[in-house]
Order: sequence, then C-alpha cells, then structure tokens
Amino acid sequence: MHDVKVVREFFEKEAMSWEREHGPDSERKDGFQAVYSVLRSIVESFPQPPKLLDMGCGTGAHLRLLSPIVRSAVGLDLAEGMINEAKALAERQIGPNSNLTFIRFDASDIENIGNLRNDMRDFDMVMIVGALEHMLEREKLLRTLHDICTPDCQLVVVSPSKFSIPFLIERVRNFGNPPRLCPSDTHFSLGKLKKVALQCGWSFQFARPIVAPPSHYAGGPTKLMYQLDKGRAALPILRFFGTYCGVFTPTRGAV
Ligand SMILES: C[S@@+](CC[C@H](N)C(=O)[O-])C[C@H]1O[C@@H](n2cnc3c(N)ncnc32)[C@H](O)[C@@H]1O
Repeated sequence: MHDVKVVREFFEKEAMSWEREHGPDSERKDGFQAVYSVLRSIVESFPQPPKLLDMGCGTGAHLRLLSPIVRSAVGLDLAEGMINEAKALAERQIGPNSNLTFIRFDASDIENIGNLRNDMRDFDMVMIVGALEHMLEREKLLRTLHDICTPDCQLVVVSPSKFSIPFLIERVRNFGNPPRLCPSDTHFSLGKLKKVALQCGWSFQFARPIVAPPSHYAGGPTKLMYQLDKGRAALPILRFFGTYCGVFTPTRGAV
C-alpha cells in the first residue's frame, strides 16, 4: 500500500545516514554528481540567478552546492529528520545567513503551501529529484506548482524510469509482496509524466538521461550500459532503463 505514513517512516529512518550514503562525498558520489551537473546546467541557463524550490529536498545537498548561483532557494521535505539535517549541514557548510530555507512539508498538502511563508510563489525553477515517485496526488501537485511559478519557470523532474535496473532488481527481490515505497504501476515513466504534466499546464521541453557510473548502482547490466554510454551508443537505452531528467515550462494561457 502506497501510504504517506510508510514513506515518511522510511525516510525518517534514512535521514541520519542519507548524506553519508547518497551525498556528494559518499560512495555514490559519481551518481550524485551525474544528477547535480544536469541541475547546475539548468540553473546556469537562466539569464539571472533563479528563485528555486526543491520539493523532496532530503538533506539539501543539491541546494547547498547550487546556493552561490541561485537568488534564493526553499527546500521542502516530508521527513523532519531530513529537514533537521539539511538545516544543520547548511549552517555548518555555508553559515547562518545562507540564501537557503528548509521547512518540513508534505507535498500532498500543496494547496496550503502559501501558509508556510508569504513568499512561497514566483519560483523561476522547481526541482523534484528522486522524489516524485514517492509522492501521492501528483496531479494536484503539478497543477498547484504551475500556479506558484513565473511564466518562464522550468520544472525539473529527475526520476528512475519505470524499467530502471534498480527498480527491476527491487521488483524481483520483492516478488509476490506489495511494493514497499513506489508501486511501479503508479510510477511515472517519462512518457506518462509528459501526458500528466500537459494536463496540469506544463509543456515538455527536453529530457536528459542521467548517466550514473557503476558505483551508483552496482550490477553487471548497469556497468555494461555505462561502458556503452561512454561511446554515446546507449543513450536511447539509458532513457528507458536508467534515470531520466524531464524539463517542462508552463503552457501559455493554460489552466
Ligand atoms: C530519494 S530521496 C531524494 C532526496 C533529494 N531530493 C536528493 O536528491 O538527495 C526522496 C525524498 O523525498 C521526500 N518525500 C517523499 N514523499 C514526500 C512528500 N509527500 N512530500 C515531501 N517530501 C517527500 C523524502 O522524505 C525524501 O527525503
């Protein structure tokens, strides 16, 4: 059963070790870097430093690194432990007066985002990194994000594709049991995301495969794809079996 309580409990448990296991200095640092470099290139494509919202920010590692090139950024996350870590790490690494704000918030409650602070609008960029697949009521979320963005906003979604190797491994390991966190039948492939996003006022701009080196997801098939990708031969395959980054902008005159 895909339930926000289950998702929250899972990530509360992960919070203290998240940075160590998934952050920029972790064993998976190459995978982190693969995502970060795509995010950074999108931030750098704005004529002025953007105002950024990170929905499902975890411990805020991407935001800390993006801090010098954004005007301001808000990181929201369901898990209190993630937010506490994000605040502590930002204070330690950037200082008390950084341009980053972290607040505990459930994306299912998106219609009340304005109650958090009175400047929770006019975002130039919204990113949802490895998190949309865990969220419920995604249509309501995408519609409301549209309403709190600037007309030239970029919505950036990074998510494992439905047939990504880690998902397939998880499915085989868990065969016969209900999925723990992200049921693959409700998971958004890039194709599904494009369709739903369009209905919610977002036009698809472009997609990039996230090419994570083998340290990210150890395993023969991933290693093979990475080797192939060095020659740029496997990009279409990676789009299908790897992690995608989809970028959207508000449809003119929509919703
Ligand atoms: C896989 S982690 C990714 C964290 C971070 N974006 C990163 O790239 O390191 C997914 C995050 O989404 C958060 N999350 C899951 N469901 C959420 C919800 N309904 N509202 C807000 N955050 C949520 C989790 O607490 C977790 O920190």
